[in-house]
Order: sequence, then C-alpha cells, then structure tokens
Amino acid sequence: MSVIALLGAQWGDEGKGHIADKLAAQAFIVARYNGGDNAGHTITVGDMVVRTHLIPAGAFHSRVTCALGAGMVINLRSLAREVDELNSHGADLNPDRLKIDVAAHLLLPGHVALDGAGESQLGATAIGTTQRGIGPAYTDKAARVGLRAGSIADVETFAEAFRAHVERTNVRLTRDFARPMLDSIALEAEYANLAARFAPHLADVTALVHAALERGETVLAEGAQGALLDLDHGTYPFVTSSSTTTGGVLTSLGVGPKHVTRVIGVAKAFCSRVGAGPFPTELHDAMSERLRGTGANPWDEFGSTTRRPRRTGWLDLVALKHAARINGLSEIVVTKLDILTGIEPLHICTAYTYRGKQMAGFPGDSAWLGECVPSYTELPGWHEDIGAARRLSGLPRAARAYIEQIQSFTGVPVSHVSVGPERSQIFEV
Ligand code: GDP
Ligand code: IMO
Ligand code: MG
Repeated sequence: MSVIALLGAQWGDEGKGHIADKLAAQAFIVARYNGGDNAGHTITVGDMVVRTHLIPAGAFHSRVTCALGAGMVINLRSLAREVDELNSHGADLNPDRLKIDVAAHLLLPGHVALDGAGESQLGATAIGTTQRGIGPAYTDKAARVGLRAGSIADVETFAEAFRAHVERTNVRLTRDFARPMLDSIALEAEYANLAARFAPHLADVTALVHAALERGETVLAEGAQGALLDLDHGTYPFVTSSSTTTGGVLTSLGVGPKHVTRVIGVAKAFCSRVGAGPFPTELHDAMSERLRGTGANPWDEFGSTTRRPRRTGWLDLVALKHAARINGLSEIVVTKLDILTGIEPLHICTAYTYRGKQMAGFPGDSAWLGECVPSYTELPGWHEDIGAARRLSGLPRAARAYIEQIQSFTGVPVSHVSVGPERSQIFEV
C-alpha cells in the first residue's frame, strides 16, 4: 500500500525503536535504511528490554520481514551477535525473515580501527563518534572502494576483496596513525565464516519492497540517528555520515516519493545529544541531571550503544520545526512526556538570537548555531503520574498544553504520545 517513514526529529535517541516496535504490527516489511550499528534502539515488551543496533524493530512481530536497506553499512560481526541475542529472546531471524540488500555496504574491521585512530588524532576537536567505523565505511563507499554485501555470495572473490581491505587499512594505520596493523590471518578466517553464515540472507530489498507495495502491504522504514545528525542538513561536521532524513528512505530503499504516505518524526519531550557539537538548549545544572536520570532506569539518558551520558536540555522547537521542514513531517510522535512530570515551570525554546538579532529560523551553518542564544516560553508543569494515560483527555491540562504548543509552533499534528517505555504506553491522539 505505502511506505511509512519513521525517523528521529532531533539528535537521535528520541525513542524510535519503541515507536517502530509499536507500528511494526501494521507492517509487512520493516526496513532500516541508513547508518549501521552506531544506532541503539530500545524495545520494551513486558519485562524484556532489548537494544537493537542493526536489526529493525519488526524482529518481535513474527509476520514481519526485517530488511537492511542499500543505504546501510553493515558490520557482520555485530550482526551475528545481535541475531544470536534477539533469537535468544524468541525472534527467529532466519534467512526468510532477515534480508540484507546486496547493495548495502560492509563495515569491516579496518573501518572500526580507522574511526578510533581518527578520533584520537583529533583530540579536543573530535566528533565524539560511536567509534563503530561509520565514517570510514561511508568514505570507502563514496570513494568506490567499499565492499558491498553482495560480495559475500562468492567465497573466493570475497576473500580477495577482504584481504585487499585489510592491506589498505594497514598501510593507513601505520603510515597515518602510527597504530599496529590488523591481524589479517585471524580476520580472514573469521570473515569467511561470517560471509558463509549471512550469504543466505542476501536479497534485493528494493524488489521485495516494491512487491509488497504492489500487493497492498505496508512497509515501515525505520530511521537511525536523527534529522540534526543528517550528513547534509544536520550540524556538520558534528553529524553522522548518512542521510537520516526522508531523502535517505528514498535512495536507500529505491522508492519514489509518491509511495511515502506518512512521514513520522519522533521527538522527545526534551532534547538530548551524545557526542560533540552545538546544542543551544543544553543545560549544565541540576535540571540537566534531572532530565538525564541517574542511570538506574533503562530509559535514563545514557547511550544505548556506548553508555556515554547524554547531554540534556529543554525542548527546542526552532530545531524541531527545521526537522519538520527538511523531512516533510506529516506527524510528530512525542516520547518521554512522563519524564517532565513534577518539573515546574517547563521551558520550551521558541526563538534564537544570534549576535543580538533574532534569527528567522534554524541556521544552516553549525558555527552560527553554536553562537545562538535560545529564548524560552515558560509553561506550567504538572505533578500527576501520567504513565497510565491512554488518551489525550487522560493527561493533565498542562501536559495537553505542552503538546498543543508543539503542534502550533511546528504546524505539524502530534499523532501519538508516549508516557512510558512499554509498548502499551503509546497512545494515538
Ligand atoms: P532510539 O535510538 O530513538 O530508539 O532511542 P533509545 O532507545 O536510544 O533511547 C530512548 C530511551 O527512552 C529508551 O530507553 C526507551 O525505552 C525510552 N523511552 C521511549 N519512550 C519513552 C517514554 O515515553 N517514557 C520513558 N520513560 N521512556 C521512554
Ligand atoms: P540512534 O539511532 C544518538 C552520534 C554520535 C556522534 C555522531 C557521529 O540510537 O538514535 P557516528 O558513530 O555515527 O560517526 O557518530 O553521531 N550518533 C548518535 N547519537 N543516537 C544515535 O543513534 C547515534 N548514532 C550516532 O554520538 O555525535
Ligand atoms: Mg538510540
């Protein structure tokens, strides 16, 4: 029937996994379209809390095919670990259920080593990447020297290309970074096994997507990272190396815009960012810690992939409106509204001032953003526990006013609100 794009509308970690898991019930295919195992998406079903890095949220819906799209960079070592873990929770990710596009790129050990070496060389100016090799893998793709997933189908060709990757990396590691070389013999054996394991999962995901659309099925495209980490439209250079926005859905899955009927932006009721880069509403006081949590709860703001404490701050509607524009959001899902319970008053950023002048919107240059001073609208808080609310009218008046402010400022309707990490705690507005 159509493609539903579901993507992060802030700096990542908005609760995409949680919402995708809920919406996957309506889908035939759930496909990741960008990034790799830099993502960490949390799914909570009853007592089970699972973090996915490469596998889309459809894993826990037996009817759903999980697909890894052409725009991804896939670390087979991480994928093996993740499949084993999810299968131990009952996911059954056999080759009929988990499909890897032949055109996706492989993220190989050399990419991980070069990411780490590059970041330490940058020192204080480092991006703060997840050190999963994302930048180097996309660099190889753009330079047309990367290995595509399809290469694992042929044992000999793959072995040769893999060896060339290790040799190329070793030249760079020793010459540019004075780092030790990778152990090619051990890696070749490991990767021959991984290739044999995942070859049966290879598929033409674009063809599967079109076949599903022709049969009238729904395809859910699950984004990783967030709009403000987009390679083109995010806060460059403090971004990831892929297209996190709606454009990324089209190029990765090979579908035209007419197929995308809904573009759902997931936004947290406040903001977080992990890694370096401008963040106008960032707080450095007790409120920052209050929003982050102590780490005692699984939903506290500590990286799902790296466990780094996330930077936190007030909701930034100027940035959210920018995300709505560059994605063509048709709706917004607000998550973690429950975290704001008990905070009085609440602040929402509704304008930026740059060198004494009010900006018309979100600046295109991240250096300007770094100098923007946020102006806040104050809103009353609420004190009731909202975790059991299952409709908008079940929320306190102040919580409804908070949602209303998001809708009226961005011009995009809020379609769902989440008041807790459990599947059942998401309701339609
Ligand atoms: P993602 O990368 O966008 O999938 O988000 P993460 O999984 O990295 O981080 C979001 C965290 O918030 C996870 O621990 C979720 O379980 C949790 N979460 C999502 N929605 C809600 C919510 O409405 N309330 C609470 N308390 N936690 C939530
Ligand atoms: P999910 O899908 C939050 C950030 C890193 C760093 C920058 C570049 O869970 O929302 P990279 O490793 O991609 O080269 O790092 O992007 N980053 C994320 N931040 N959530 C993510 O994924 C992220 N993936 C990457 O912290 O600032
Ligand atoms: Mg995450």
